[in-house]
Amino acid sequence: MTKIEKIVLSYSGGLDTSIILKWLQETYGCEVVTFTADLGQGEELEPAQAKAEMAGVKDIRIVDLREEFVSDFVFPMLRANALYEGQYLLGSSIARPLIAKHLVDIAREVGADAIAHGATGKGNDQLRFELAVNALDPSIKVIAPWRQWNIHSRMQLLEYAEKHRIPVPSDKRGEAPFSIDANLLHTSTEGKSLENPAEVAPDHIYQRTVDPVDAPDAPEIITIGFERGDPVSVNGKAMTPAALLTELNGLGGRHGVGRLDLVENRFIGMKSRGIYETPGGTILLAAHRGIESITLDRAAAHLKDEIMPRYAELIYNGFWFAPEREMLQALIDQSQAFVSGEVTLRLYKGSASVISRASPCSLYSADLVTFEESAIAFDHHNAEGFIRLNGLRLRSWAARNGR
Ligand code: ARG
Repeated sequence: MTKIEKIVLSYSGGLDTSIILKWLQETYGCEVVTFTADLGQGEELEPAQAKAEMAGVKDIRIVDLREEFVSDFVFPMLRANALYEGQYLLGSSIARPLIAKHLVDIAREVGADAIAHGATGKGNDQLRFELAVNALDPSIKVIAPWRQWNIHSRMQLLEYAEKHRIPVPSDKRGEAPFSIDANLLHTSTEGKSLENPAEVAPDHIYQRTVDPVDAPDAPEIITIGFERGDPVSVNGKAMTPAALLTELNGLGGRHGVGRLDLVENRFIGMKSRGIYETPGGTILLAAHRGIESITLDRAAAHLKDEIMPRYAELIYNGFWFAPEREMLQALIDQSQAFVSGEVTLRLYKGSASVISRASPCSLYSADLVTFEESAIAFDHHNAEGFIRLNGLRLRSWAARNGR
């Protein structure tokens, strides 16, 4: 085994990463620095401090990354209207490169030669962490205990905890819990009964959205302001990116907006079934498309839509810091220069529907499109020639086919 001098561990304070912390200290006999990011997962972070102290960690980092997460990762992704496989808003995928960036920054600061994470060998997250490290600092080694140690079952994990006096909360003693990943953009739930895609997800797994059936009978009307492609206000009130997403999560959650039950294709090769709750993100996607509909040129909008699946797949597969993602981002960002204005939506029993949109930079011309008489000169005869020329090859083709 290669000698490691110092490790920075991505540490949630939960049972799994507490065991990983102990295992790293034992296996490598070196100093471990813990890094815990507040991404708006809604968990208390003080326990992480206390547990790391108890494990003898001297350098404990707990950092609030909510604003950076939303402004530098979530919003750039939303500018693209990114959806993986047509439906997934990439809530876990987009958080990993941010965590990796901070792990690398801390490793450089404290002179660590390795970083460690608690992602398993079957998932996408290991790719997202490690491809980011490859792109940001190839000199840093990555330790992925789940791929290296001899713990292969929940039982063995609990035995290891017991043996090393790592406290196991009573709700973690029985069978394996759901695998949950939460941040300001979403909550993702996988595992247990969800592993059978033929089985309906139990109600109790939903954490931040009500069942649309139980949502208020009265719709709620909200207005979102955009500037250059990014949301900046809700109901006329200017907000920071993280505050805005938090606000929309509350509004959407109350109306049951943003639930998704999905079977997706993991990069590593298998299909997996998960439940996602993305209330604020679902509202923002609809609103952003609403403001783009009046401010983007047709060809610009269609080009964006063509590259979107590719861009989303790059984020899903862990290539956030790759050159092709940055190239696509430059294209997307340039398209947003005039994507400003206001969108009004109706939240009602699970849906977020755009009901009006307005912009000082609108390309929409009522004068041009109107069924009534209009001031703008539009020569209807031009349409006739336009159709004749577009039909030219179709007439040749039809004649050849003997129609
Ligand atoms: N399948 C999702 C993705 O790859 C979520 C992964 C993390 N979620 C979890 N519940 N462990 O983006």
